[in-house]
Amino acid sequence: MSKIRSVRAWEILDSRGNPTVRAEAALSDGSVAVASVPSGASTGTHEALELRDGGKRYGGLGVLKAVANVNGPIARAVKGMEASNLRALDAKMIKLDGTANKSKLGANAILAVSLSVARAASVSAGLPLYKFLRKAYGLRLTAYKLPIPMMNVLNGGAHAGWTVDFQEFMIVPMQKTESERVRCGAEVFHALGKLLKAKGFDTGKGDEGGYAPTLGGNEIAMKMIVAAIGKAGYTPWGEVAIALDPASSEFYDTKTKRYILKADKKTLTAGEMIGLYEKWMQKYPLISVEDGLAEDDWDNWVLMTRQLGSRLQLVGDDFFVTNVARLNRGIERGAANAILIKLNQIGSLTETMDAIALARSADYKVIISHRSGETADTTIADLAVAVNAEYVKTGSLSRSERVEKYNRLMEIEREVK
Ligand code: PGA
Ligand code: ZN
Repeated sequence: MSKIRSVRAWEILDSRGNPTVRAEAALSDGSVAVASVPSGASTGTHEALELRDGGKRYGGLGVLKAVANVNGPIARAVKGMEASNLRALDAKMIKLDGTANKSKLGANAILAVSLSVARAASVSAGLPLYKFLRKAYGLRLTAYKLPIPMMNVLNGGAHAGWTVDFQEFMIVPMQKTESERVRCGAEVFHALGKLLKAKGFDTGKGDEGGYAPTLGGNEIAMKMIVAAIGKAGYTPWGEVAIALDPASSEFYDTKTKRYILKADKKTLTAGEMIGLYEKWMQKYPLISVEDGLAEDDWDNWVLMTRQLGSRLQLVGDDFFVTNVARLNRGIERGAANAILIKLNQIGSLTETMDAIALARSADYKVIISHRSGETADTTIADLAVAVNAEYVKTGSLSRSERVEKYNRLMEIEREVK
């Protein structure tokens, strides 16, 4: 049993060069650990609040207020609490904040403490984080199952200056082990780079480390990826599938209720978007579509799930925002069949675990995800293994803030084998 001796935070930079929060927790037995909070760009309207300073510093993106909230009220409130009781810790901070979306203290402040204490408690328990989390939340799982990665090899939308409209074109390698899946992903990624170059496209990269070529149409990306899978010596469908995150709230016009695809010079209704996914499912090895419709387009989400849900994984990201209330509504209405899990959408480890448990109880698939603004923190790799998530989504096979998560997963695989 070890108590929280102190927590403190400071400002660091994320992978886009914007400020974010890092916190350190120190326990009474001398265990110390740090954790860092990521940050999104195509954030959902219903996410918990990421507290930013405003003003001139860092173009308004400073997080000194969030840092001060950790160093002041949060530090005082959690001092002396039992570190391994993560549920009690998070409940205390949620109560201290007292708002529905953590707008008083900031989800970035609360999450930094939630994660750093979890890490310190795992050090104290002498357990790797994935094992500790399983124990701390009393998960009744026996074997460890490594998640299948969804690797974002082609970036568009808000992550790549709108070269194409769909934000993420991901490959899903299906090999038996994590290290084989990572190898396959890297080989396909490099094959894609060579193909793009040969065709005269730009091979600069977007925020999540995937290529960001101006292709002149969304479907060209699908064709290029299928070609790259073959070129790398793998079979599309059998060995490598494709997953999409159109992040469609970003190009949805709420007034006209239309989806505006600039790269295709087309404006589609929800029904036509559903039709597009259905067509692509038949033509390409497409197995998963995230935020295929906008975050509050509820009726059409239900329709899409009825039409495609038995054949296609339909993932709610901005749609569910890792929020139990929204997920519950989705389950009740029959909307989506999988949930994207992002710790900072909800702002504490415990609420994240609760969202995962609810998803499991309704047979929704679980995908643990990074954000487009990341740090070297690899907590999500451990979280994915702790809960036996079906999938992990952590970007491309370039840029250390993405690749470190794959490296950590391969490390865990060696441990649990
Ligand atoms: P974000 O993008 O981190 O910029 O929100 C990731 C996603 O939409 O899945
Ligand atoms: Zn998304």
